[in-house]
Amino acid sequence: MRILKNLFEKNRRWADKIKERDPDFFAKLSRQQNPEYLWIGCSDSRVPANEIVDMLPGEIFVHRNIANLVIHTDLNCLSVIQYAVEVLKVKHIIVCGHYGCGGIRAALGNKEHGLIDNWLRNIKDVYRFHQDKFESLQTEQEKINLLCELNVIEQVSNICHTSIVQGAWKAGQELDVHGWIYSIEDGILKDLNVCITNIDEISQPYRLR
Ligand code: CO
Repeated sequence: MRILKNLFEKNRRWADKIKERDPDFFAKLSRQQNPEYLWIGCSDSRVPANEIVDMLPGEIFVHRNIANLVIHTDLNCLSVIQYAVEVLKVKHIIVCGHYGCGGIRAALGNKEHGLIDNWLRNIKDVYRFHQDKFESLQTEQEKINLLCELNVIEQVSNICHTSIVQGAWKAGQELDVHGWIYSIEDGILKDLNVCITNIDEISQPYRLR
C-alpha cells in the first residue's frame, strides 16, 4: 500500500477540528514557535508527549528515543537541547520516562539484540551505579520499574552536565531540568522531585567554570 489513505483522512479531520475552534491557529503558528518546554521522552507509541500533557502544536519541543537517554556523544539529542535552550529559550527541560519500558527491560536482561545493545549499554551502567538498591527487590517488574526511575534521574544529571545548560545558567537564563515518570497503566504522570535549577546542585567535577 503506497498511500496510507486513512492517515490523510484523519489528518484532514484533525486540522479542521482545530480550525473550527481557532480559524487563524495554523496561520499564527506558521510565523513562529515559542514553546516553553523541551520534552525528552521514550519513543514508545504509548507515551506521546503532546497528548499526555494536553498541549497543542507549538507548545512543546520534543525529542524522543529508546528509553529517553541523553548521551554525551549523541549529536542528535545534543543538537535538540542546544536549539531548544539557545534559540527557543525554553524555561523547562523535562525528561519523562515510563514504567514498563521495553528498553529498560531489555537492558536488565542478558539477551543479545544486535546494534541496539550499544544503546542499551548506557542503561546497564545506570543499574551498576545503583546495584545495591536492587538487592531487596523480589520481582522482575519491581526491578524494571526502579531502573526506569533511576534512569530518568541519571538523564537529568546528564543534561545538567552539558556545556549548553551550564552556559545558559551562567548567562542568567532561567532553566529548570525536571525528571518525571509516566504510567502507561493509568495515564498519570509522577514528578520524581529531582528538579535541578542551577550549577550548585550538580556534582563538583562536572561544574564548568
Ligand atoms: Co520506553
